[in-house]
Amino acid sequence: MTSGADHPDAGGSLGGTSAAGGSAGGLVVAELRVDHAREPLGIDERRPRFSWLLRSERRGVRQTGYRVTVRALDGGPDAGPETWDSGWVPGADQLGVEYGGAPLTSRTRYGWVVRVRTADGTEATSERATFETAFLDPQEWSGEWLACVAMAPAVVSPLIRREFDLDGDVVRARAYVSGIGYSELFVNGTRVGDSVLDPAWTDYRMRVLYATYDVTEHLVRGANALGVALGNGWFEPMPSAVPSQLQPQVLLELHVELADGRRVAVVTDRGGAWLATADGPVVDHSIYGGETYDARREIEGWAEPGPRHRDSGARWRGALPVEPPAGVLRAQALEPIRVVDELTPVAVRRLGPDTHVVDLGQNFAGWVRIRLAGARGTVVTLRHAELLGDDGRVNTVNLRTAAATDTYVLAGGAARWFEPHFTYHGFRFLQVDGYPADLTAEDVVGRVVRSAVERIGEFRCDDELLNQLHRNVVWTEASNLHGLPTDCPQRDERLAWLNDMTVRGEQAVHNFGLARLYGKWFTDILDTQGATTGAIADTAPHVRYGRRPADPVVSSFLLVPWLMQAHYGERRWIERHYEDLARWVTYLASLRQDGIIEHSEIGDWAPPVSEAVAGSAGSGAMSAVTPGGLISTGFLHLDLRLMATFARLLGRDGDAEHYEAEAEAVREAINRRYLRRGPARYGPGNQSSNAFALYLGIVPADCEQEVLAELVRDIEEHDVHLTTGNLCTKYVMDVLGRHGRADVAMGLLRQRTYPSWGFMIEHGATTVWERWEHVTGGPLAGMGSHNHPMYGAVDSWFYRYLGGIAPVWDAPGFGRAVVEPLLPDGLGAVDCTIRTPRGPLTSAWSRSAEGTSFTVVVPANAQASVLLPVPPTAVVREGDAIVWGPDGRGEDVEGIDAVGAEPGGVRLELGSGRYELTVRG
Ligand code: BGC
Repeated sequence: MTSGADHPDAGGSLGGTSAAGGSAGGLVVAELRVDHAREPLGIDERRPRFSWLLRSERRGVRQTGYRVTVRALDGGPDAGPETWDSGWVPGADQLGVEYGGAPLTSRTRYGWVVRVRTADGTEATSERATFETAFLDPQEWSGEWLACVAMAPAVVSPLIRREFDLDGDVVRARAYVSGIGYSELFVNGTRVGDSVLDPAWTDYRMRVLYATYDVTEHLVRGANALGVALGNGWFEPMPSAVPSQLQPQVLLELHVELADGRRVAVVTDRGGAWLATADGPVVDHSIYGGETYDARREIEGWAEPGPRHRDSGARWRGALPVEPPAGVLRAQALEPIRVVDELTPVAVRRLGPDTHVVDLGQNFAGWVRIRLAGARGTVVTLRHAELLGDDGRVNTVNLRTAAATDTYVLAGGAARWFEPHFTYHGFRFLQVDGYPADLTAEDVVGRVVRSAVERIGEFRCDDELLNQLHRNVVWTEASNLHGLPTDCPQRDERLAWLNDMTVRGEQAVHNFGLARLYGKWFTDILDTQGATTGAIADTAPHVRYGRRPADPVVSSFLLVPWLMQAHYGERRWIERHYEDLARWVTYLASLRQDGIIEHSEIGDWAPPVSEAVAGSAGSGAMSAVTPGGLISTGFLHLDLRLMATFARLLGRDGDAEHYEAEAEAVREAINRRYLRRGPARYGPGNQSSNAFALYLGIVPADCEQEVLAELVRDIEEHDVHLTTGNLCTKYVMDVLGRHGRADVAMGLLRQRTYPSWGFMIEHGATTVWERWEHVTGGPLAGMGSHNHPMYGAVDSWFYRYLGGIAPVWDAPGFGRAVVEPLLPDGLGAVDCTIRTPRGPLTSAWSRSAEGTSFTVVVPANAQASVLLPVPPTAVVREGDAIVWGPDGRGEDVEGIDAVGAEPGGVRLELGSGRYELTVRG
């Protein structure tokens, strides 16, 4: 711990010393984050990483140094000891600054402040931000896991409670709760927090997450009660889990600080104070099946102090200690799942005396809140579906064994609202049976449920079909973020398939802030890794479906940490797990025979049926055309190159050379086996094979144009349609964008006949389908999800090629961005923004009769290298100033560091700020 002479707090308290809002000379230091979270409560990271962003009206703002100070806040805002003073650190770092002070202590609140200097000599100090630790060492937990051991069906949702007295005023109270599968915490009868389906699912044999709640306001001097409602969560779809774990159980610690300084702890233990009942209202529930809620069994006052919990006649027994799950306890370091939005029905139709069908107008993940009134004992069922049959009723054919049915047994009395607790559904339509009264749109609310990650990307253009596709992709992605990136939200699956994520992740990191969710999911993948082989599994957590070793197409294991570093400036996963990544790649590489990995089970999955092996796995989803060996070995090539990149990042140059040499050997092996000449093409010359080779960059330079021409020829021969599966579809688009054929890419995007995204939209899709076919029954129904992100991977094309935005690896988190928009014929305007960790980055353009206008917004402390796709003879102006003239000269404009012509257009090097450029000629 150091305390330099120019300590920012010399003579003052931490924070609050700068001008209001942390602004000095128009410079503001804002949005302080700890491991990507604002003011996190309950972290267990010993060396958290800090980040902040700068705001300024001025252009070309460059941070030249920072200083972070951290102070424990316990005992008063300025009373605690300072635990870290980074001293002035020269440079532009504003992301991932690792805590380097005295060891943090558990259950402690810290305040931190950052002061920055910029190149023009301005200094600014942030407001104080806070973070709070939970249990830095899992051994510090003293509570026991408790369950309700009852002769009741295992599917009940037990309620667990205890009372306790507090003989003083409460100044601070935290509840640490791990209730698995799912739990809801109540204090003195009130539900705490707004998270649902908590904690996030992990393989409980490896890791179990707990949440931290601030319950200060919920407690009182005198009698108090804690209550926990437990749900099965992911126990039920985990048939391979240890049998003794097949019951909901809870571990809870409440830590209270009283005004006189005393500390009181209430923990789950065997002393008899904790009572449990299996007689609560949730009588049946599962993720896939839905929930049955019997309002007649509600227990008034069950989570309040006093005797009311006994009035209903429920049988309360002592909660018993049970075997802890084998997994290590970790703080939940990601956004909880929440109800993030609500939908109003667009239609409610009565189909019979007691049947209604509700159309929410949008396919989504979540459930409905419904207002019901009726005689005691009335049973109302809600069936959820993505499709309607010709008879106007729900068509649930594609849900497989998922009943996706919520049932309410009414208690009589006044109308009241119901919603489920421990299930969720993927649906647009709702069939309500058993309800004789009138149901109107006012009685039903669609509750949109997902991990509450931030939306960070926006795209729109002047083509409504593309805008609709973008909306569909965002809804699809949003429907599949539930503590992990699931494949679909509706059928009996909802697993995070690594192969889909190989293409999907890039779309997702443009649209949502996923640094924490992907960090958690990356750890889920590590949890599947074999100790001996290093092999990971196809799905993580790995249950029910997917094999280990995974199919070689699961490059997401490496791409996700790559994306986290490139987009969010988060390098921890590469640093900490380089060896684990290497073990998988070494395993894969060892499968080669004659340089080729023949093993391929998934490959370029689910292409149009004409391209697939009828009757193969996944309702005929295996490609009949694209050679599995090309796909598997191609991904090995990609993995080796990613390993080389990671090795260079970590300064392991020897490793990097090894991986580069290996990648080169793989490239040669692929070309030897799959490259044909006259004309140059890969494998059978289908779109997937040619696009994949071009995407990987393995095509010999003298063949590149021919392979590209073959790809375009095949697309045109198919009347501008794709023949590709879930992976190579993205690669076709990227290759066309990269090689100057945006015209062909636009043709594919604007296509409205089968197979195409437009075909889905023509059929009313509000999300992206799993298959190119319109599946409403028949042999594909079992693999006919209508809300499946993999074909939504196309959305990154909008940002990357129409907006032209890309991160630069050497300046992660968009410290430097490339902005190279394409202006395809027939498109008049594009506007996209990504809220990067340094602030919003915008690329927008529009054409008019006078010329083309470009808007570029570069966050403070960042730079952009912009290529305007205009001829070198064009005149580029900002306002009246000529930035680039036909003679190659321009005026000096603040923030524009350099201008020059190159083959693709006019290049501008921009510092931070907003630029409005107009181009003539
Ligand atoms: C999933 C797909 C995945 C496939 C791979 C399916 O069940 O829904 O998204 O690509 O399995 O085998």
